[in-house]
Parts: sequence; C-alpha cells; structure tokens
Amino acid sequence: MSNALSFYIILIVAINILGCVALLFFTRKKKQSGEQGKTTGHVYDGIEEYDNPMPRWWLWLFYITIVFAVIYLILYPGLGKFKGVLGWSQIGQYEEEVAEADAKYMPLFEKYAAMSVETLQDEPEALQMGQSIFANTCFGCHGADGRGGIGFPNLTDDDWLYGGTPDDIMYSIMEGRKGAMPAWGGALGEEGVSQVVHYILSENEVERTFKPELVNEGKTKYEAMCAVCHSKDLTGNTAMGAPNLKDTTWLHGGSISMIKDVIENGIQANMPAHDKILGKQKAHLVTAYVYSLSHADDEQSQQ
Ligand code: HEC
Ligand code: HEC
Repeated sequence: MSNALSFYIILIVAINILGCVALLFFTRKKKQSGEQGKTTGHVYDGIEEYDNPMPRWWLWLFYITIVFAVIYLILYPGLGKFKGVLGWSQIGQYEEEVAEADAKYMPLFEKYAAMSVETLQDEPEALQMGQSIFANTCFGCHGADGRGGIGFPNLTDDDWLYGGTPDDIMYSIMEGRKGAMPAWGGALGEEGVSQVVHYILSENEVERTFKPELVNEGKTKYEAMCAVCHSKDLTGNTAMGAPNLKDTTWLHGGSISMIKDVIENGIQANMPAHDKILGKQKAHLVTAYVYSLSHADDEQSQQ
C-alpha cells in the first residue's frame, strides 16, 4: 500500500468517526432545547413527524459503537498502514492455526508415514484423515465419492490409466499426470475417423453395433497410428496413460459421437502435481484412502 493511499484511508476513517460524533453532538443539543410533542410540520399519508429527542438507549448504543470503533482501530489493523498495537493479521492467525493443527497431527502423520498403504487399510483413523484431505483437495475434480466424471477418472474401480498400485497412485498425486491424446481429424479425415471408430467398436468386450465394411480399413489405420499408445490389442498402456479401448469404461463417454469427438479433436488432460500442496505425509494418507476406494470388496471378503 502506498503512503498516499494509506493517508487517504486514515483521513476517510477519521472524517467518518468525527462525523458521527458531530451528529451526536447536534442531536443532543436539540434534545435539551426541544419540547416534547412538537411536530416538524411534515405530514405524509396522515402520519405526522414529531420533533422528539432520540431515545436514550439509542444514543447510548451510538456512543458505544464509536468507542468500540476507536478501540478497535487502535488494537487491530484498519487505519491504512498502521498495523494495530496487537500486531494481529489474517495471515498470522491462519499460520498460527496451521501450526497448531500440525503440532496436534504431526505425531499421527509420522506414525502413519512409517506404515505401508496396505497396512493402513486396517487403520480407520488414517483412512478418515485421508478422506478429509480428499474432500478438501480432490473432490472438485474427482467428485465427493471419487467416482469422477467425463474426463476425470473414477478412482473407485479397478480400471487405472496409470496403474493402481500404492506407488502408482502416490506418483499420480505427488507428480501429477498429463494425458496427451493427439488430434487425428486432420490426418485421418472424416472417413478415416469413422473407420477406426467402427474397428474399435467391433473389438469391444461387450457387443456393440458397428459397420463391418469399415472394420478392415480401420484396423490397418489403428495399427499404424494408434497402437503405439493404446497397444496392438487395444488394452491401453499405463506408461502413457492411454486408456484401454476394449473395456466398458470410457473416460470421455462411450457413445459413437463422443468417441469420434475425442479421436478428431484430441485431449490434453491434466492431473495437477500435489507434492507442494500436500507434502509427502498427507499424500501418503490420501493414497491410502484412494487405495481403499477400489479395495473395499477385499476387506468385506476378509471379514
Ligand atoms: C484440477 C483437477 C484435479 C484435481 C484437483 C485432482 N485431480 Fe486427480 N486427476 C485429474 C485428471 C484430469 C486426471 C486424469 C489425467 C489423465 O487423464 O491423464 C487425474 C488422475 C488421477 C489419478 C490417476 C488415475 C488413474 O486411473 O490412473 C489419481 C490416482 C488421482 N488423479 C488422484 C487425485 C487425488 C488423490 C487428488 C487430490 C489430492 C486429485 N487427484 C486431485 C484431475 C484432478
Ligand atoms: C501419443 C499416444 C496416443 C496416440 C498415438 C493415440 N492415443 Fe488415444 N489416447 C491417448 C491418451 C493418453 C488418452 C487419454 C486422454 C486422457 O487422459 O483424458 C487417449 C484417449 C483416447 C480415447 C478415449 C478413451 C476413453 O476411455 O474415453 C479414444 C477413443 C482414443 N484415444 C482413440 C485413439 C485412436 C483411434 C488413435 C489413433 C488414431 C489414438 N487414440 C492414438 C493417447 C494416444
């Protein structure tokens, strides 16, 4: 804040407070000289305005607010650059609260950091902490229940773009992931896109309607242009985050027009890196929670 702005703010605040004091002063004078029951002469809709003094309680309230304002401005920041004698600040308070929470949870974080993701599956408190980190940090993209949506992978199933081991999940969270599907509309043309789409549909593990006459050409084009990422047998490649195109899980919607759209226009997906936001210990806990989402069945079968 510049000195001029600071001075300007102080001036406005001071004028405001002095204005209130002046207002009070004049209404108080009126009260001493005014006679009860006199009207001001203003009438509206048959209602007359009386020239009575302000009620006492109201005046007192006014005095108190002024005193409060002055004390507040001495103690807390409010007068331009003046920081207040308490030295309070929002950031200071936030940092204090964070430090307090860290001190409270640090021993727990350390305890859980030393345990593997698999063993944490039997620690309800650790999973709960992971869940609350998830609710704060991840739910905007992956949904409150981790089921994701179009373009945002479901984290509760067994289908993983980048692999579902604890290390894979931890890596996805800490380092982030970038899924790059090139646009093929230009290279393939409309007909070429249709051919690969119908080839992909013909290979799906569930029966889908497709045009058999397009499949052969589609297969040739697929093997030349797509197999390098999605693999020759269409099962995908976790090293690239290229999804399995044979199964019933579709990251971008599985209708013919949605599949076409992805192939024509490509996708630049971005899972942001969370190493700086979370740090290792919190990432470890949220990894344990994410891992639990797709392993809930194992737990039930153990019981
Ligand atoms: C800004 C949106 C966004 C946020 C926030 C976000 N993610 Fe993601 N995440 C994505 C996207 C998009 C992908 C898919 C990347 C791709 O398609 O290549 C992804 C992928 C993942 C994957 C890999 C899934 C797989 O199938 O291999 C995991 C695990 C994951 N996220 C966990 C998390 C966790 C845990 C958090 C919170 C700490 C989080 N994400 C926060 C958008 C987000
Ligand atoms: C450079 C690697 C690469 C190549 C080559 C490539 N893809 Fe992809 N493809 C990807 C990635 C990565 C994604 C996932 C994008 C994301 O994470 O959102 C993807 C997604 C898709 C999807 C959406 C899948 C879903 O679950 O919704 C389809 C369909 C697809 N690709 C078809 C093709 C076809 C057809 C070709 C060849 C013409 C092709 N891809 C070539 C990397 C590639």
